[in-house]
Amino acid sequence: MSTKKLTTDLKQKLIQQSLRRKYEKVDKEAGKPLKALTSSNIPEKFYRFDQHPGYKQVQIMEQGASMLKLESPYFRVHDELAGATTKISGREMINFASYNYLGLSGHKEVNNAAIEATQRYGTSVSASRIMAGERPIHGELESAIAKTYGVDDALVYVSGHATNVSTIGYLFNDKDLIIHDEYAHNSSIVGAQLSGAKRLSFSHNDMTTLEQLLAQHRHQFERVVVIVEGLYGMDGDYPDLPRLIELKKKFHCFLMVDEAHSFGVLGQTGKGLKEVYGTPGTDVDIWMGTLSKSLSGCGGFIAGEAALIDNLRYLSPGFLYSAGLPAPTAAAAIASLKIMESEPERITQLHNISTYFLEQAQLAGFNTGVSKGVAIIPVIIGSSVKTTRVAESLFQQGINVQSIVYPGVPENSARLRFFISCEHTQKQVDQTIEALKQLL
Ligand SMILES: Cc1ncc(COP(=O)(O)O)c(C=O)c1O
Repeated sequence: MSTKKLTTDLKQKLIQQSLRRKYEKVDKEAGKPLKALTSSNIPEKFYRFDQHPGYKQVQIMEQGASMLKLESPYFRVHDELAGATTKISGREMINFASYNYLGLSGHKEVNNAAIEATQRYGTSVSASRIMAGERPIHGELESAIAKTYGVDDALVYVSGHATNVSTIGYLFNDKDLIIHDEYAHNSSIVGAQLSGAKRLSFSHNDMTTLEQLLAQHRHQFERVVVIVEGLYGMDGDYPDLPRLIELKKKFHCFLMVDEAHSFGVLGQTGKGLKEVYGTPGTDVDIWMGTLSKSLSGCGGFIAGEAALIDNLRYLSPGFLYSAGLPAPTAAAAIASLKIMESEPERITQLHNISTYFLEQAQLAGFNTGVSKGVAIIPVIIGSSVKTTRVAESLFQQGINVQSIVYPGVPENSARLRFFISCEHTQKQVDQTIEALKQLL
């Protein structure tokens, strides 16, 4: 390595370290206990948004990007449908940054279903469903989801994130305990915080630690819920469902599985984690999923026993006090479910092309972590700056992939995250792996 390259690397490392320290300092300061305030000594930071800790952190990140001469990879504008390919600023690109796993967003039948629903019901249901927002299409979608899970009923919310926040936040309270995988999505954490329940996490997919936590704490609380994900969005692996069911039965607690990424993806026909293990849907208390990924819409669902769904339908705030799902979105999800059933080859193709990606990435010597090679494959690079630079170079070569960097993940596991669609081709995968080989 040349001396010049060495000094540039060192300089970058120093900039990066100093930025990280600044970033963490803002966090620490925000967490410090308050000094006594009187009405005459309220510091400016408590009534100015430009001194809000979050805004300061955004500024540190922007400063860092400019010092390191990195282009922002955020909020890129896609000119048209984003599937296996996309168009950004007029350029055709291979796209690994969208959740269009089954290629159904933009599918002709799905589009037509949404258009017909718009023509019939309009673009908004204009009220909470309990008041004046109910349309036949809501019940149709919920029955189809419940049938897919083999459970009594389902309920759809207008956002996947709000589904978790509202369901968890409503069902549990300060006498309860929420135990979740350390990699739980922000929506579950925010829901847990809202509930006021005690929150504990266990190391990723570690059933032994989970069992220890349950043995130690179950009896100290009224309701206890264990929250896991069907397919982890950062790592592409999944939990041991039969063991989770054993534990929830042994310790008399609830089990919630968030299938945001696994529904439509895992199992031979896309029925999710339960299909991988051949478990009945009724063995899990709360199934959660989103409409924004395989179901090509926007929103979320909860599926489970009638007592749970009726309770949420009448009382969970994100459902009760929020306008119902727009009819075109419900219609798109129903059409996607139908295609999922009638064209299982989409799921087979998703599995095949994902496996091919994983194998090629591993052959090339990349660190793909614990990914099982279904739809989500990280390539762990281990430095935020390097990861961003590699993503930038790929972008310049017509390949769009998200970089996940500190603080989204720890610095040493900064990564590129590839979302695979059943419509990706081997040629696109080969081109991507080749480009990555040159860069890494
Ligand atoms: C595991 C998980 N749960 C919930 C959500 C929120 O879903 P949505 O984006 O549909 O609001 C996401 C988003 O990607 C997720 O990854």
